[in-house]
Amino acid sequence: MLGVSDADLDRAAAVILSGGLVAMPTETVYGLAADATNGLAVAAIYTAKGRPSFNPLICHVTGLAMAETCAEIPPLARELIARFWPGPLTLVLPRKPTCPVSQLATAGLDTIALRSPKHPAAIGLIARVGRPLAAPSANPSERLSPTTAQHVAENLASKIDIILDGGACAAGLESTIVMIIGEGAVLLRPGALARAEIESVTGLLTALDEQTVIVAPGMMKRHYAPAARLRLGALTRGEDEAYLGFGEPPEGVTPTLNLSPRGDLAEAASNLFAMLHTLDASHRAIAVAPIPNTGLGEGINDRLQRAAARF
Ligand code: TXA
Ligand code: MG
Repeated sequence: MLGVSDADLDRAAAVILSGGLVAMPTETVYGLAADATNGLAVAAIYTAKGRPSFNPLICHVTGLAMAETCAEIPPLARELIARFWPGPLTLVLPRKPTCPVSQLATAGLDTIALRSPKHPAAIGLIARVGRPLAAPSANPSERLSPTTAQHVAENLASKIDIILDGGACAAGLESTIVMIIGEGAVLLRPGALARAEIESVTGLLTALDEQTVIVAPGMMKRHYAPAARLRLGALTRGEDEAYLGFGEPPEGVTPTLNLSPRGDLAEAASNLFAMLHTLDASHRAIAVAPIPNTGLGEGINDRLQRAAARF
């Protein structure tokens, strides 16, 4: 466990730049941070948390300038940013095609959740790394969110490279998440910034169940769903199919793309959404190799099954 001195933040930034995991204090809860542009590092977050599926993660930025490298920022979002950043407000915005963040961090969605935290250690860390940091709360899946470095150490110490102890979190509750859709704003998760504060800028917020799939025209889908038909557990490749491999391909099958030729689940997770997008654009059907259902394989299979179930 380190403190939050300049030297500690330098060390933590070096660890993140080499693909490691750092627990960092924010004003809401402790976050489990990794370089959001490094797919393998993002995969390591899911492994450490033991998350059964790949929920999109919040990407933490130093402010508006870094946010603009990732997302389109409509006028209403700009007003909210001017008023509440740095602070406990996360904005879900359209992802730019040039966004450097790994598609695993955004779970293959065409949107990205961005927030600029207020804690000086978090700001110092992101600034040193110079890239967005993906950071969910630093707790094992389905456990309480940690508000002290001790909480993090008790539950995750063996899975994290560095824990930065910046004292107890001021808010103790996760950020409020707002999705900007056209000229309106939707409340996705109530949190540390009160609704009334946000509504003083946006007018009335529409409430929305976080799990709801938004299907109305012009709105964004909550879960990535390819247009191509997916065939899972495939040991053969049909004539009109693309084949998405994993590990050694079956006899006689040439994969169009391979999630991980060496059969590594973290590498496969980091390639999953990007490769599905690529094949989706070029094929009407995608056969997917069997993926072992252990470790990150559970998350990969969860997403594949959701994507395949639409048909
Ligand atoms: O206070 C916080 O927000 C903490 C600290 C560490 O900053 N972070 C946090 O991150 O709670 P995380 O990754 O656990 O929150 C992710 C939530 C997901 O449950 C998801 O619902 C929502 O953010 N989210 C992320 N990206 C999204 C997207 N593109 N569209 C809709 N919801 C998104
Ligand atoms: Mg959480």
